[in-house]
Amino acid sequence: MRFKANAIVFLILATACSRTPAESPTSRTPVLTVPKDSSTLANVGAFVAKHLVLDLSADFAAKTLSGTAELRFDRRDRDASEVVLDTRDLTIQKVEAAAGSGAWMATTHRLDAATPAFGSALHIAMPSGADRVRVTYSTSPSARGLQWLAPSQTAGKKQPFLFSQAQAIQARSFIPLQDTPGVRMTYEATIGTPKDLVAVMAAEMDPANVGPVLSDRPGTATDGPTRTFKFKMPQAIPSYLIAIAIGDLAFRKMSDRTGVWAEPSVVDAAAREFEDTEKMIVTTEKLYGPYRWGRYDLLVLPPSFPFGGMENPRLTFATPTVIAGDKSLVSLVAHELAHSWSGNLVTNGTWRDFWLNEGITTYVERRIVEALYGKHTADMQAAIGVSDLAESRKTLEVAGDRTLLPDLEGRDPDDALSNVPYEQGRLFLVFLESKFGRDAFDQFLRKWFDEHAFQSATTEQFLAFLKTNLLDTKPGAVTDAQIQEWLHTEGIPAFAVLPMSDAFAKVEQARDEWLKGGSMDALARTASAWSTQEWIHFVDSLPRTMEASRLAALDQRFKLTQSMNSEIAHVWYRLAIANHYTAAYPAMERYMIRIGRRKLIVPLYRDLASYPEGLKLANKIFAEARDGYHPLAQTTVADILKKT
Ligand code: BES
Ligand code: ZN
Repeated sequence: MRFKANAIVFLILATACSRTPAESPTSRTPVLTVPKDSSTLANVGAFVAKHLVLDLSADFAAKTLSGTAELRFDRRDRDASEVVLDTRDLTIQKVEAAAGSGAWMATTHRLDAATPAFGSALHIAMPSGADRVRVTYSTSPSARGLQWLAPSQTAGKKQPFLFSQAQAIQARSFIPLQDTPGVRMTYEATIGTPKDLVAVMAAEMDPANVGPVLSDRPGTATDGPTRTFKFKMPQAIPSYLIAIAIGDLAFRKMSDRTGVWAEPSVVDAAAREFEDTEKMIVTTEKLYGPYRWGRYDLLVLPPSFPFGGMENPRLTFATPTVIAGDKSLVSLVAHELAHSWSGNLVTNGTWRDFWLNEGITTYVERRIVEALYGKHTADMQAAIGVSDLAESRKTLEVAGDRTLLPDLEGRDPDDALSNVPYEQGRLFLVFLESKFGRDAFDQFLRKWFDEHAFQSATTEQFLAFLKTNLLDTKPGAVTDAQIQEWLHTEGIPAFAVLPMSDAFAKVEQARDEWLKGGSMDALARTASAWSTQEWIHFVDSLPRTMEASRLAALDQRFKLTQSMNSEIAHVWYRLAIANHYTAAYPAMERYMIRIGRRKLIVPLYRDLASYPEGLKLANKIFAEARDGYHPLAQTTVADILKKT
C-alpha cells in the first residue's frame, strides 16, 4: 500500500516544475544510517542520495554515454563542506551545486587518482546548505559496467548494441554516485539514442517512448535522427540495480504484467521459453507476499552478456544461452524473479552480506521450481548446486571467500564472487526450515521481507531478526554454535540437510552399467527420457580418464559435441578437455568465442590452462575471443591465463 501511495505522490511531484528534496517521496521512510561498506569511497555519513536525474546520450561511434547526472541528497551533516562520489574512468566536464529548489551554482571539484579496486573519488565542494549536485560527464569507451557491441555480435548483425551491468560496483563507471547497496534512491532518466534503436531501462517506461510496453510491438522511429526515451523508477533502489540497454529491440507480451524484450529474430523463441513467468510470479506471491514492482519483463541480451541473469528491477537481463527450446534452463527466471523479494526489496547492506541476496534467492528459486516443476526437479538442481559448491570452493584462493562472510576490505567484491554465498547460503536456510518446519519458516521469511521492504539489511540485522522471530520460538532447536559454524566454516557443516542422495540414482545406475561394458542401446533406451539435469549429471560424473573410442561412441550416439543445450555442451567440453578428446575442440572453440557468459567459459579456460598444449590453445582462443567479451569476462580470463 505504501508503495502505491508513494507512486502517486511521485507523479504529482514530478510534474511540478521544481521540487525540494524535503518533499521527495522517500523522505517518509525512516532515516537509517548507511552501513559501513569498504567498497565505496563516498562520504555517506554526511550526504545520502535520495533521487537521481539522468540525462544521457549514447554515441555508438565514440562508445560513450554523455550528459548530466543530478543527485538530490539528504544532508546529514550541516557542516560538511564536500560530497564525495564514486567514479571510475569518467571524464568530468563540469560540476554544479544547489540548495533546495535554488539555482545551480558553479562549484569546484577534484578527482583523486584511481585505485584498481574502487576507481576515483570525486570530491565536490558543497556551499553551506547545498544538497544537490549536477555533474556533466562522459564515460570511457572501456567503462567496466558497459559493453558496446558491434553489429556482428548481435543476432540481427545490422545494428550495434549497448548494455550495462552495474552489480557489484560498476555503476560508478557510467554514473557518478554513491555506489553502495546501503544507499537507495529513486530516479528518472532521459536517454537519447540513434534513431533506429530502442532504449530500455530497468524502470517504468514512459508510454510515450514507443507506445511499447503494453502493446505487442513497439512502434517505429519517426522523430528525426535521434530518439528520446524517458524512464522513471518510483521505488527507491540501490545503485547496482540501475540498468540500461540500447539495441534493435522488439517486445512480446506474455501476460498482462510480463513480457520479453529481445532482438526481433530472438523474441518469439524467448517468449515461448519463458511462458511460465506469470505462473512463477503467482507462486512466489503466495509464499512471500505481493510482487511490488509493477511489471516483470525480461530482456534477452546478445551472447556476450557475462552472466546468466541479472535481477534488474522490472526488467531481468538474461543470457540467450538459457533458451534451450524445452524450458529446461528456466530456473534462471525463477532465480532472477526471486530477487524481486530477496535482493531488490530487501538488499544486502554491504557486499560482505551478499549471501543474504543470493542465498535467500537460491532457496526461493528452488521453492518456485519445486512448486512448478516438482520436487524431483528441484532436488536434482539442489544436488547439482551442492557439487558446484564443492568445486567452487576448490578454486577459491582466499580462505574467507570459502565462507559466508568474506573479508572484502580493499578488494573489488567481484574478486570474491563464487557459488558459496548461493549454495552455502541456501543450505543454511534449508537447515533452518528443517528445524522449524516449512510453515513457520515461510512465515518467517515473509515477515523478513515485509518488515525490511525497500531497505538494505546486514547479516547482523538478519541474525537478530532470526533470533527473535524463529530461534526463540523453539529454544534449543538450533544452537548458537551451529549458526556461527554456518557463517564461518569453509565447508558444509556435518549437521547440514543435504539434497536427496538418490536424486540421480537411475542415471548413476545406467552410467555404471555402460561403463562396465553394457551396450550403447541399453544406455540410449534409459537416456531417451533424461532431462537436461540428468544429462548434466551423467556427463559430469563420467571418469576423467576415458578412452577416446568410448567418448567418440558416446558423441556419435548422442551428438554431445554439437549439443544446442549450453549447459550440456559445457559439461561435455570439460569432460573432453580432461580426456584430451580433441574431436570436440573445434566446436568448443566456436562456443568459447561466441559465448561470453563467465560461468560457461571460465571453467573451460581453467581446465585448458592445466596442461601445456591446452594452455597454448586457451591463449589462441582468447586472442580471438577477447574483443567480443565483456570487460569483466576479459579480466577474469586474462587473470587465469596470466597465473598459469
Ligand atoms: N545477481 C546475480 C548476478 C551477479 C552477481 C552479477 C554478482 C554481478 C555480481 C544473478 O542473480 C545471478 O545469480 N545470476 C546467476 C544465475 C543464477 C541462476 C544462479 C548467473 O549469472 O549465473
Ligand atoms: Zn542471484
